This record gives sequence, structure tokens and C-alpha cells, in this order.
Amino acid sequence: MTTPTSRPEPKRLFIKTYGCQMNVYDSERMRDVLRPLGYQPVDGPETADLVVLNTCHIREKATEKVYSELGQIKKMKEAAGGKMTIAVAGCVAQAEGAEIMRRQPAVDLVLGPQAYHKLPEMVARASRAAGDRLETEFETLEKFDALPKQREADGPAAFLSVQEGCDKFCTFCVVPYTRGAELSRPVDDIVMEARSLAAQGVRDISLLGQNVNAWHGAAPKLEGGGEWGLGQLARHLSKIGGIDRIRYTTSHPRDMDDDLIAAHGEVPELMPFLHLPVQSGSDRILKAMNRGHTAEHYLDIMRRMRDARPDMALASDFIVGFPGESDQDFEDTMNLVREVGYAIAYSFKYSPRPGTPAADMFGHVPEEVKDERLQRLQALLKQQQTEFNASKVGETLPVLVTGKGKMPGQAHGRSPWMQAVHFDAPESLVGQIVDVKIVGSTMSSLTGEYARAVEAA
Ligand code: 5AD
Ligand code: SF4
Repeated sequence: MTTPTSRPEPKRLFIKTYGCQMNVYDSERMRDVLRPLGYQPVDGPETADLVVLNTCHIREKATEKVYSELGQIKKMKEAAGGKMTIAVAGCVAQAEGAEIMRRQPAVDLVLGPQAYHKLPEMVARASRAAGDRLETEFETLEKFDALPKQREADGPAAFLSVQEGCDKFCTFCVVPYTRGAELSRPVDDIVMEARSLAAQGVRDISLLGQNVNAWHGAAPKLEGGGEWGLGQLARHLSKIGGIDRIRYTTSHPRDMDDDLIAAHGEVPELMPFLHLPVQSGSDRILKAMNRGHTAEHYLDIMRRMRDARPDMALASDFIVGFPGESDQDFEDTMNLVREVGYAIAYSFKYSPRPGTPAADMFGHVPEEVKDERLQRLQALLKQQQTEFNASKVGETLPVLVTGKGKMPGQAHGRSPWMQAVHFDAPESLVGQIVDVKIVGSTMSSLTGEYARAVEAA
């Protein structure tokens, strides 16, 4: 007699991710929670049984993209005779809720970032075409608690979520409304996930959070108890065998404490690359943005970071054309960029978000002025990025081999500063940190020659 098995039928899952790294991480977790139901990832939505759009609400353009994508997917659902479940997750789901189903009735499920652990149950319910299809309330039950602690690693570099939400209320930003209040994940959970990733060969971990350096938690009793900040957490994680590189993103200047800066001088595993958005170089605008820091405060952090770790490189986000931004305010931003010298930076035109204080401010900047400022800022940032990459030519860098290239014998990897590096090396090196001599550079990547494997520090 054969034993009956309860293995579910394989089903096809397609998740499209928009926006920030938090969403990339959340999409991975959604894949994890759906796997036990038999969902296997596929590359496109056409034949999928379940399509999830993990959305971003940060700027108007990002939101509109979601609705146009939904229009396309609706046609695919019709072509499949209606046999497709469409779910909208992420920040548009949180912000717009039921409105999404009104605008696009083909949508079956709407769920906000706090509700992913309920996805399997909601999918099961939706496929029975019954019950409540909306799940966007913030839960007291923390999302972190309900997600599986084991994760399937996808290569030697991975994200690890340690913090969620934001209480900063920058006047332009929807995140405090879509992601809720700041919440830190407990040390034990983080360590367990880091160990599990290390055991699967992960060597480069990016600690994730909307305000990652606001992370704090009770220290384990064995470590003497007390309260830890991110610097202490990094020291602790650096002792896990196999974890050779630790990064964290995204940080807020207000939460950049002395201990975290000191940790950069002490912990070789902490990578010399920091994404620390400043948004503007004008104190007047920073105040109107409710950032809670000045340009000088930011520059001081940068100097102290470089004292602790001279090879520290910085990344940032900028907004041009915030309400009231004058030519002089914009020049202050350009001067700050010149003073810092960025490895990479992301810049955006201010986009008014309904419900945020800045949307109702006076002095909205005309679109063509925003365009002109964005072009000038981006030209300067591109030049700095190109120069930063070129400064590595001739050096031999420790490169984590992240995968094989398009052609046989080619590999790609990641430098300590997050630069993509292309070089010839056997596939067997994937997952190792090897010495690569950098021989060329462009604005977006480096090319190198593999010399020999090095033992990580
Ligand atoms: N308009 C333009 N850019 C924005 N950002 C956040 N909100 C807005 C907005 N309303 C940018 C900030 C932030 C990044 C993730 O997106 O620079 O750091
Ligand atoms: Fe948004 Fe400001 Fe919070 Fe960053 S710190 S998520 S910009 S409110």
C-alpha cells in the first residue's frame, strides 16, 4: 500500500518588486511563506497562478506604474479564463487599500507590509473566492514574529531585516504612514537568521531597515545584558563564522551615534560604505523637511566616519525642488555634494504626496526648474561616481564572487564599496572572496583580472 502524501500541487508564483530594498527583502519572504503551499517562482506573469505586485508609494510615478501594470496583468488573467489570483502588496496597498480594487476590479487581494505572514491564508481564502480580501491594518502582532526563521539563501550576499518603520516624519515622505512606527527586531532572532544564512554560504549581509541605525535591542544575558545599538549588533554578528562582510542600509543622520562610528574603526567586517541620505545641503530646506539635522551636522558625521575608517565611501539620496527651494538653496546642495564627494547617489524631483505636510506648503517649484536642477545635480553625481570607480583602477581588491557571467568563464562580484566587478574566473569560485586586480572602470562597474583566492580577514 502506498502512503498518501499531502504534497501540494506545484503552482506558479510571479512576484514583481518595485521600490526599495525593503521590498526586495519582503518579496523574498513572501516567496518563503508561499513555498509550503506549493508555489514555485516563475520568470513572468503570463502563466502564473498567483501574481503579486509588491508596490512602492514613495513618488507619484511609482504609484501610477502599478496601475498600468495591473491593466496588463488583467488582460493575462482574462486570457487565462480568470484562473489567476492577483495580489497587490506593499506601500500602495497600505496607502490606498480598497481603492485599488475599485480602480482595478481584477485584483483579488490587497495586503500591506505588516500582513505578509497572512499571505498563505489569504491566498487560500481568495482561491475559494470568499471572505475578507483586505489586510492593511497595522497589527499589534509583529510581522517579524510570524515569519519563518529559516530562509533559503539566494547566493552569497543577502539582506537581513532588523528594523521596520519610521517615526521621523520628514514632511515630504509617506513612509511613516505606510510602514508604521519604528520597530526593532530582537537580537536573538537576528542572530538566528544570520547563522542560518551563514550556514548556507552567505558571506555578505546587508542589515535592512527604513531607519536601520535607529535599531536598538536588549543584549543577550550571556553578553552582559543592557541595551545595544547597531554598533554592538555589528560587533556581535561579525563573530559568526562565515560572515565576512556586514553592511546596513538606510541610515538617518540623527541616529548616527558615536558607538556606531567607533565600530567602523574596530570591526573589519563592517564595510567602508555608508548610505546616509542628506536630501538637501540647505539648512533652510532641511528645516522645512523636518530632517532634524543641519548640513554641518551631516558633514561632521562624514569627517568622523573617515577618521574612523579612512577608506569610507558615502552614498546619499537627494530631493530637488522641495517647496520653497531657491537657487541659493540648490547651490548649497551642489556645494555639499562637492565637499563630500559621493561614490553613488540617487536624486529625485520633489513629488507631492497627498496627506504629507509638504504637499500643502507654499512655494511649489515649477517643473522646468526642477528638471534643470535635477540635470545639473545628476551630471555632478555621475562625474563623482565615474571618478570614484576610476580611483580603484590599478588596485587589487577583495571581491566577493556573486555569480557567473553571461559567457563561459566569466564571473561577477562585489567590491567592499558595492561596485559590480566583472572578470574571468571559474564558476567554482562563486561564494568566495578573491583578489581581483582592477584594470578598467565605467560609471557603473569595474573590470578586473582574477589573481588568487585570499583568506578573508
Ligand atoms: N518626492 C521625491 N522624492 C522622495 N523621496 C521620498 N519621498 C519623496 C517625495 N515625496 C526620496 C528621498 C528618500 C528616497 C527613498 O526617496 O530622497 O530618501
Ligand atoms: Fe521617509 Fe524621512 Fe523616514 Fe526616511 S527618515 S523613511 S525620508 S520619513
